[in-house]
Amino acid sequence: MIDATHILFGQTLSFTADPFATAPETSVQHHTNGAVVIRAGKIEAVGPRDQIAIPQGATKHEYGTQVIMAGFIDAHVHYPQTAMIASWGKRLIDWLNTYTFPEEAQFSDPDYATEIAGRYFDLALSHGTTTQASFATIHPESVDAFFSAAQARGLRSYTGKTCMDRNAPDDLRDTAQSAYEDSKTLLERWHGQDRLEYVITPRFSPTSSPEQLEALGSLWAEHPDCLMQTHLSEQHEEIAWVRDLFPKARDYLDTYETFGLLGARGLYGHAIHLEPRERDQLAEVGAGLVHCPTSNTFIGSGLFDMAGLKSTGQRVGLATDTGGGSSFSMLRTMAAAYEVGQLNGTALHPLQLLWLATCGSAQVLHASDKIGNLVPGMEADLVILDLASTPVISQRHARANDLSEALFPTIMMGDDRAVAQVWVNGQPVARSTV
Ligand code: GUN
Ligand code: ZN
Repeated sequence: MIDATHILFGQTLSFTADPFATAPETSVQHHTNGAVVIRAGKIEAVGPRDQIAIPQGATKHEYGTQVIMAGFIDAHVHYPQTAMIASWGKRLIDWLNTYTFPEEAQFSDPDYATEIAGRYFDLALSHGTTTQASFATIHPESVDAFFSAAQARGLRSYTGKTCMDRNAPDDLRDTAQSAYEDSKTLLERWHGQDRLEYVITPRFSPTSSPEQLEALGSLWAEHPDCLMQTHLSEQHEEIAWVRDLFPKARDYLDTYETFGLLGARGLYGHAIHLEPRERDQLAEVGAGLVHCPTSNTFIGSGLFDMAGLKSTGQRVGLATDTGGGSSFSMLRTMAAAYEVGQLNGTALHPLQLLWLATCGSAQVLHASDKIGNLVPGMEADLVILDLASTPVISQRHARANDLSEALFPTIMMGDDRAVAQVWVNGQPVARSTV
């Protein structure tokens, strides 16, 4: 099956540059009448339809005026929070205690973990998300359930056991030692299997003792090819709490830095209320910042400074952060990023939004050589977008004068109905039952 050759016809969209670093219109290669050849799970050729030879035996797929582009990459999500998305009325710390921790406690049951992992992947794929970096729960079973479900679907996917040894309920606490040992066992079991990668995952400084942060810093030093993911400077109350818990730390980032948890392969979710020193350090090491706009508005966290951070060369990815985020859709997430940009005084360009959801997220995952763009050599994870998926989008799209105007109504108003088809690892995915 995997050796199959396919040729897809439609509009093609590939990035040739970072649209934050150049005029956005010059950052893409776009063929209105394009073709994509896929062989053995990889993109082999992209170009104008009349210049691409149809390989012998290739299966043809006609997508008309739909857009063929790289699948979306959600760089920060909590799959165990799938069932409690849209929980009302709390800010971060109360939201965690009231809704999140009781839900995550249920993942000690492997059957429940398997059920939610399957539900999560069905939802993600139906919204065009082909890769995700997810937090699991403290239970090793939650990692096994997630990776098994990702592997069965042929996905490139990332997760790790969420480590917490304080300020969490009894049944959601590990220890410094068990966090290290369980993470190491899971890493050895899953990291590099098929398209799966293990991510070392301290939840955030308030729920890890210095000993636990140190133990996970050591694990990362022993496995420097792994990613590390956590949360950073999401809400003012959280930052004040970190100051109380770590009185000697210079700032929030320092609580990670001191224990070997700052690096280029680190993913720092939210990163909203950063001090100048934190910005400098993150840029200096080339760390990955992850913007979670629907979560930041839903939980009331604040406005991520996209323009300021990108202009100083920070790596930035985009993410849903469900269930703190209020949608599984990266289209909805791009719309929220646009709205947050407006509140901050910068209208993000449609191509910048699409870049963040594909190339930007791939960059923070250090996977830009494999996923996130429609170019030869990349793994064939694709989304096919219908730019006229609903009456309101269709009538607005009909007035578009150029590519960016054609894309923007779908970015702002599109949902899973705009996702005409998803491809994973060179295979079309059957429409979800969700
Ligand atoms: N900070 C620590 N844990 C979480 C979480 O689960 N969601 C969000 N949004 N922030 C966090
Ligand atoms: Zn999160």
